[in-house]
Amino acid sequence: MASHLFTPIRLRELTLKNRVIISPLCQFSAIDGNAVPWHWAHIGQFAQSGAGLCILEATAVSAVGRITPGCLGLYSDDNEAALTRLLKDTRTFSDMPMGIQLDHAGRKASTRPTWDLPKGNNVPDEEGGWKPEGPSPEPFTPAWRTPIELDAAGLARVRDEFVESTRRADRCGFDLIEIHAAHGYLLHEFCSPLTNHRTDAYGGDLMGRLRFPLEVAKAMRDAFPAHKPIGVRITGEDWVEGGLTLDDAVVFAKALKDIGIDYVTPSAGNVAPGMKLPKVVPGYMVHFAEKVKREAGITTMTVGMIYDPHHAEQIVASGVADMVAIGRAIMDNPRWPWHAATALGERIDTPKQYARSSPQHWPAYAQVHGVQLRAGEGVMSHATRE
Ligand SMILES: Cc1cc2nc3c(=O)[nH]c(=O)nc-3n(C[C@H](O)[C@H](O)[C@H](O)COP(=O)(O)O)c2cc1C
Repeated sequence: MASHLFTPIRLRELTLKNRVIISPLCQFSAIDGNAVPWHWAHIGQFAQSGAGLCILEATAVSAVGRITPGCLGLYSDDNEAALTRLLKDTRTFSDMPMGIQLDHAGRKASTRPTWDLPKGNNVPDEEGGWKPEGPSPEPFTPAWRTPIELDAAGLARVRDEFVESTRRADRCGFDLIEIHAAHGYLLHEFCSPLTNHRTDAYGGDLMGRLRFPLEVAKAMRDAFPAHKPIGVRITGEDWVEGGLTLDDAVVFAKALKDIGIDYVTPSAGNVAPGMKLPKVVPGYMVHFAEKVKREAGITTMTVGMIYDPHHAEQIVASGVADMVAIGRAIMDNPRWPWHAATALGERIDTPKQYARSSPQHWPAYAQVHGVQLRAGEGVMSHATRE
């Protein structure tokens, strides 16, 4: 029987060949927000992977909104030129749709990349650190930088920065945008009662706290071509007493759907210290997607320790989520979709240069499974050509 994971899905005018999605993965390797050769290698390997979509890492809408000095940005002409080149080069050998996650790090900006954390969390001023901005002037912990509280003019500016980066993403040639409203960054900080203590219209009850993220999403939707989809990474639960709950996620997802957002990815946590994590087992956040999909009626992507192709298949086949994002497993093995396809008895396109590598193209495998080989496949390594 045909696999559900390898069934196409359509988001507006964009058709993904399958439901395996490469999760956004920060690389902390950019210079002044610009993509560097590492990104060509990193995205290049993913572009050969056969996944249905690759979503580029959290990319800042302003220099202040970078998590670290090494975060990708889409706030300057140089940033735009670098990502345009990256996409143009990638498209010479891959037709994989490319998405980008747009982000503002909020109070969690100006921190060091994970590998430099032993030197301390914050980037000090003398090393180019900066003052973050957030919904309320409260640091993540007393050891973090205290953000500047965004006033009305600041909110309008940040919204416009998201819109400007949206226009840049379109000009770069991205097929899809994912808005980052999770993991304790700015838009999540507005949503959560743990981090939003405003007394104006952008704080207070849930609808007040969702107001700014919804205004940003709506402005981005208006600025991005109607045929290109926009998704949002949201929070299923804060996992901290008094924080966002899964019911809140359903309310947010419904409101996002109403303004034309095409899918949500419920993730969780990282907005405040003192998290009580559930047991982190494969698919530990699938139930978020299931409830949000059922109750908000929106297309969902799930994420979280999904590495077994049969597990991914079962998630999509049972209808609890529409797409499966793979993060660490695909960094570990960028050919994950090839092997998943083989394990599920499917066939996906692989680069012609590598047609002889994948088991699904080996003569013995093809014979046993009745696979019709194409030109260049099934040629053994002792062929006369080398
Ligand atoms: C190195 C690394 C970088 C990440 N960067 C991002 C990011 O840019 N945006 C985001 O929403 N999540 C980010 N995440 C979270 C992943 O996208 C994913 O949600 C998480 O790792 C759980 O999925 P997994 O178990 O398949 O890795 C990152 C995770 C890792 C390990």
